[in-house]
Amino acid sequence: MPATQPYSLLIRNAAQVLTLAGPATDKPLAGAAMHQWRILDLGYVACHGSTIAAVGAMAELDEALIGPETRVIDATGRVVMPGLVECHTHLVFGGNRADEFQRKLQGESYLDILASGGGILSTVRKTRAACDDELLAHALHHLEGFRRYGVTTLEAKTGYGLDKETELRLLRVARQAGQQQPVRIVSTFLGAHVPGPEYKGRPAEYLDYLATEVLPEVRGAAEFVDVFCEEGAFGVEEARRYLQRARHLGFKLKIHAEQLHDLGGCLMAAELGATSVDHCDYLTPAGAAQVAAAGQGRTVAVLLPLVPLFLRQEKYAPGRQFIDAALPVAISTDFNPGSCPSKNLWLALQVACLKMGMTPLEALAAVTLNAAWAIDRQHDCGSLEPGKRADVLLLHVPDYRELPYWLGENPVAQVIIGGELV
Ligand code: NIG
Ligand code: FE
Repeated sequence: MPATQPYSLLIRNAAQVLTLAGPATDKPLAGAAMHQWRILDLGYVACHGSTIAAVGAMAELDEALIGPETRVIDATGRVVMPGLVECHTHLVFGGNRADEFQRKLQGESYLDILASGGGILSTVRKTRAACDDELLAHALHHLEGFRRYGVTTLEAKTGYGLDKETELRLLRVARQAGQQQPVRIVSTFLGAHVPGPEYKGRPAEYLDYLATEVLPEVRGAAEFVDVFCEEGAFGVEEARRYLQRARHLGFKLKIHAEQLHDLGGCLMAAELGATSVDHCDYLTPAGAAQVAAAGQGRTVAVLLPLVPLFLRQEKYAPGRQFIDAALPVAISTDFNPGSCPSKNLWLALQVACLKMGMTPLEALAAVTLNAAWAIDRQHDCGSLEPGKRADVLLLHVPDYRELPYWLGENPVAQVIIGGELV
């Protein structure tokens, strides 16, 4: 677009523009960089079509680029920031588990319920029984909820089919959901969630089945391969072999690890060059330093603070110490029917500040730019910089420090995706 072309969209007079931009880097934000990005007081964001054209202080705005066709939005008294990036969800599933929540409130643990044939496996039964239209309708309902919270890009995992036919069906439904509304979807294959019911007690054989019969057909439909490394799911060595095979087939890697025990899954995945290691509640600060080194500062730890809250766990990932150990950190809901039925990424940010020791600026980086790194979308979203997709939020508050403060509220006033108000 020529620099002289009038802007198609101009958001002006923002009380604060949270740019998330800082010194150019080819790695996710880590250590002090997680809070050293730029905030502009009284600023503007201008777009050409679906792309950000300029971001700056109002004093620098080139009025000559405002034409009759420019849509102007006044952001007086508002924070303006990049759309939220939700980097870990299990979007497509059948039914819900309100019944098990009752059992949890009466004292049963997550792993007890899983071992009794409930948990993930009960959602697998409901998902297999649901038709595509039903799954799609539910996914679209949840996506609309995410969008209202200001999520503009969302990662969606499979993992409630656990057989070839249903897992491929879940990928198709996620793709259709992406096509039918504006939030962009990034797909992850989590067939290795737990061994499928047909492979009970035979996790290695199940992974072999996935690697030989399913993964080749997943190519092109999912970008990442994920595995749940935990007691009752898959061990570290099984998971390592599986991820190596996935990498060989061209997939980028993710892992659910150190959620309930410190098994060493995060380090193993970082050694394989995983894009992210997720949960990390039992990862120690010393372990975090090893993960940072093994991942060469590129592997992002995705922290999911609503999960220990919902599972009534005392232990939360020590996010503060992870940041001090130079491990890049992102925050997500982990939206799923078992361990986090919430789509409120703002609440996740707030609980990360309250229970993981993160500061507001670090937590904001963790739901935007670092979350974009966690799904390899850093070139496209996560910050307000010329050339990136125009995914922009206008918030009801004038100061970012109010964001972790109004506990449980949705601060979003307007959502713009790809330069369009949605
Ligand atoms: O990320 N931990 C494993 N998987 C999901 C929970 C899935 C479920 O309970 O249905 C998670 O927390
Ligand atoms: Fe998860």
